[in-house]
Amino acid sequence: MKYLITGGAGFIGTALSNRLTSQGHHVLVLDDCSAGDPAALHQDVKFTKGNISDKTLLWTLLQDVDCVFHLAARVSVPESTLFPSAYNHVNVSGTVTLMEAVRDTRIKRILFASSGAIYGDQTQIPYQETLEVKPRSPYAVSKLAAEHYVRTIGMQAGIEAVCLRIFNAYGPGQRIPLSHPPIIPNFLKHALTNGSVVIHGNGTQTRDYIYVDDVVNAMVSASTAAGIDQEVINIGSGVETSIIELVRLVRLVTGRKPEEIINPHKSGGTERMCADITKACEKLNFLPMVPLETGLRLTMEKDPLLKTARS
Ligand SMILES: NC(=O)c1ccc[n+]([C@@H]2O[C@H](COP(=O)([O-])OP(=O)(O)OC[C@H]3O[C@@H](n4cnc5c(N)ncnc54)[C@H](O)[C@@H]3O)[C@@H](O)[C@H]2O)c1
Repeated sequence: MKYLITGGAGFIGTALSNRLTSQGHHVLVLDDCSAGDPAALHQDVKFTKGNISDKTLLWTLLQDVDCVFHLAARVSVPESTLFPSAYNHVNVSGTVTLMEAVRDTRIKRILFASSGAIYGDQTQIPYQETLEVKPRSPYAVSKLAAEHYVRTIGMQAGIEAVCLRIFNAYGPGQRIPLSHPPIIPNFLKHALTNGSVVIHGNGTQTRDYIYVDDVVNAMVSASTAAGIDQEVINIGSGVETSIIELVRLVRLVTGRKPEEIINPHKSGGTERMCADITKACEKLNFLPMVPLETGLRLTMEKDPLLKTARS
């Protein structure tokens, strides 16, 4: 099959592009390199540096493509609070531009990388796709708006449109920016360099961490699964892990004892997050294969920056 992956030089996009290429598929990647780096892409991936809002470029790239994975986005929840209009521009307007181009070029299927952040705080755990969503940040709002555009334009234009609500993905290749880094590579890095880990709130808040290879399994399966047009499907591990438990596992796999700094004054964000993955299991034959402890070990062993930090 021939795929276009927007944001394909990013963390999840690189893993997805390389998997599809190694399976013999023809993969095109469009990424503006604002956060991604094409250096880790398989040599057979055809990379184009460009913006998701460039419709002419999209028309060219979409010729004869069978399926689009739309991952290009700005992805930091705290940053979205500072720059909501920038998040709206890329995540919402960029998605609408892509959908116009997908419609014009008569693409059969688009899979949108949505987010578990859309749910916000819920009382019912685990989160089912049928829950009323309560986005708590401009990032989450932008993902929800994009979901609506993908499904609505898809429905009107006869394009199979599927939204995958990914929970907290982690694994090798995840960037660790200085400001607002993702928690898992950040904790591993600080543990390996004998630094300290900062816990916001009281550490009892939970997240659903899913190893990147499991996310890719679900995405690849969604590219050919039958009967999923217009579906919204959670992609998580289905396991709820507190920050305190995560710190324990980080200590275990690194063999180090980073100093723990508790910052009760800063909110730890949404109290609990856990995906109900029944629908993914039924529709995509999805089964998460990598438990958190194993995923942390794999991340530490395979991530180039963490490998350096270890030595
Ligand atoms: N990582 C997670 O835990 C997670 C969870 C839920 C949803 N998602 C979604 O999955 C997707 C991929 O996330 P990721 O973690 O790999 O993030 P990432 O930042 O590594 O990847 C996003 C990519 O999009 C590119 N990009 C940004 N703006 C662009 C633009 N205007 N035009 C072209 N390319 C652009 C960036 O350069 C980057 O390579 C995103 O849509 C994100 O919202 C990720």
